[in-house]
Amino acid sequence: MRVLAIESSCDESAAAVLDETGGLLAHELYSQIDLHRAYGGVVPELASRDHVRKLLPLVRGALAASGGSSQDLDGIAYTAGPGLIGALLTGAALARSLAYAWGIPAVGVHHLEGHLLAPLLEPEPPPFPHVALLVSGGHTQLIEVRGVGRYHILGDTRDDAAGEAFDKTAKLLGLPYPGGPELARLARTGTAGAFHFPRPMLDRPGLEFSFSGLKTAVLQTLRGRALDERLKADVARAVQEAIVATLTVKAERALEQTGLDALVVSGGVSANLSLREALTNVAARHGARVYYPRIEFCTDNAAMIAVAGLHRLRAGERQGLAIAARAQWPIESLPPVGDAGTLQPLAAGGGPIRMN
Ligand code: KG4
Ligand code: ZN
Repeated sequence: MRVLAIESSCDESAAAVLDETGGLLAHELYSQIDLHRAYGGVVPELASRDHVRKLLPLVRGALAASGGSSQDLDGIAYTAGPGLIGALLTGAALARSLAYAWGIPAVGVHHLEGHLLAPLLEPEPPPFPHVALLVSGGHTQLIEVRGVGRYHILGDTRDDAAGEAFDKTAKLLGLPYPGGPELARLARTGTAGAFHFPRPMLDRPGLEFSFSGLKTAVLQTLRGRALDERLKADVARAVQEAIVATLTVKAERALEQTGLDALVVSGGVSANLSLREALTNVAARHGARVYYPRIEFCTDNAAMIAVAGLHRLRAGERQGLAIAARAQWPIESLPPVGDAGTLQPLAAGGGPIRMN
């Protein structure tokens, strides 16, 4: 089975072609960062308009790079939610129309399921069941993953997501959008111990997160001080340390609570090297192993949508003819795919999933 996937949930337009036996044949991505930078964040209407311009050329590019054509496709997967509704609808309309024109099925994919399954594209995919730490711009969740579509949320954020905490504090430091990677870069030159920010909810049992207090703490620290490069770097370092420490302690608790020995970390913030290092150390203490997507598949992309879509199309899931998308969509409401525990890497019938 070969699928074309389309991602357009936020500020990245992307298309990919994934083949069940041949692996990932193509993936194309256009980031709207430059478009939104002047506004300090994503402007939804501009995002939708730009997806309309970019998606079809990306689809053409991905098909050409796959070495095949539309005739080789068995289905189309597209991100149907959660995300910006206008942006989602551009991808939904294109995917549904192409599938209709080409006489193949379409399936709407949950964006966060895409993030969760992105590590399946790696040469050593994670086993099921595992614990997943999903850390993106909009979500911070610990999830027990028993199989594709078998998600049990162990802990969620009460307010801001980890990526949001990175982005908002970066903004306070005057860093350009998107703040997360900028703040991480600056943190490298900061002095350890210069500042200490609160690690919320660590003193209480449970797997819930709360990051909104971090902004206030940073704001108070900056008050009355000249925002020079040294101060910025020191604060960036302390912010990153607080976020990483919080995520790491909770992930460790989740491993202890479930007794599982595999931890998947995915979503944009999983690109953070300091977080990767801390989680690898924690997992080692528990005899557990950590699995990440490669850096380029941590942030939004269509390859991960193709993985989720291929599993669902292969299981016979089909979308009706209506063009449908959802801004909000609880991941626990997804239908399970196949038998729990029997899931094998996608390219089970061929070699490992490869990159062209
Ligand atoms: O998964 P993603 O691309 O989009 C959503 O689905 O939200 O995640 C984007 C988030 C942003 O908040 C961005 O600042 C953050 O991931 N991010 C990072 C890094 N790279 C991306 N945060 C910290 N360190 C990074 N290296
Ligand atoms: Zn995402």
